[in-house]
Amino acid sequence: MVSDGGRERGGAGRRLVPIAWDATQAAVRLIDQTLLPTELRYVDVRSFDDMREAIAMLRVRGAPAIGVAGALGIYLGLVERTPGSAFRVLEVLDELCPRMIEVRPTAVNLSWAVNRVRQAVERAARVAIGAQPPEPTDLLAAALREALAIADEDAEACRRIGEYGAQFVPDGGRVLTHCNAGALATAGWGTALAALYVAEEQGKRFRVWADETRPLLQGSRLTAFELAEAGIDVTVICDNMAASLMRAGQVDVVIVGADRVAANGDVCNKIGTYGLACLASMHRIPFFVACPTSTLDLSLRSGHEIPIEQRDPREVTHGFGRQTAPDGAGVHNPAFDVTPSELVTAIVTERGIVRAPYGPVLAAIMDAARAE
Ligand code: MRU
Repeated sequence: MVSDGGRERGGAGRRLVPIAWDATQAAVRLIDQTLLPTELRYVDVRSFDDMREAIAMLRVRGAPAIGVAGALGIYLGLVERTPGSAFRVLEVLDELCPRMIEVRPTAVNLSWAVNRVRQAVERAARVAIGAQPPEPTDLLAAALREALAIADEDAEACRRIGEYGAQFVPDGGRVLTHCNAGALATAGWGTALAALYVAEEQGKRFRVWADETRPLLQGSRLTAFELAEAGIDVTVICDNMAASLMRAGQVDVVIVGADRVAANGDVCNKIGTYGLACLASMHRIPFFVACPTSTLDLSLRSGHEIPIEQRDPREVTHGFGRQTAPDGAGVHNPAFDVTPSELVTAIVTERGIVRAPYGPVLAAIMDAARAE
């Protein structure tokens, strides 16, 4: 994670870096995404509670990015509590890990990354036992190493997803995307948007429709922001405009990200994704999902088992400072929905492109990953 004031050089212009470890400040530097697109401000997070707050409030968001944030948050919590023994380090982990995981229950990357840090520390403790008693500082160093490895691996995965996904971006075509599955949502170039960045590097010319993505507008605030920064032609639409654009033949392909993919290939992503998939199917438009294998959760048989985060009703009734529904009106505000795998043309991962039947191929991909 080499950063340059929050942007990284190379590839398609300068990429936004939403999260980076600043060793000199002993802080995690985040872009506060709640302020975009009008203000690009960096905040330094130094405590476990502040990291929980940043994740809960979507200052840092997007499945892979909250994985990295959660992992670094665990390290910050360990440092804060200055455990005096290896045993105490493990006790602190028992307290911190569930508290971090519960903040956002849908994107599996958060629990996956937190558990990776925990297992790395437990491994370091086991290795040291039998020789000399492990030093708590060594265990904390193992936690930080693992968190940074997660970030580096995600950046690499994003690049590969982009390379696989670029073939689905038609030269001269129009791509529709939902929410933000870009650099701002990962430690790399994003997932869905990585395909666009690589296609652009390859010299393709295309236009992007960015679904506004109610209620928190990640599409218009974040996707349109980062694509415009990268010089990619982007047009914002309200969510309810996608259908008529498709009917008018103005959409050639849909590419979205994912927060969790079940063993049968059902895809959980930002609320509204399922509706888009239905529309794409009806209009015979290919519907691609791009995600790293850290987003696969093969412990769940189908999307029915994925926990859906319910968010504050005020995001719907009082979005961005203005009341838009009467007092007393009920509100339904799930952050995500599930798209059944039969509506998905293919899932693009860093380990290749997966098509139906998803079950066996996803299982083989995870077996290969575990074998490394
Ligand atoms: O609530 P958010 O903004 O964290 O939701 C993000 C999404 O739904 C993204 O599409 C998903 O995490 C993929 S990010 C590469």
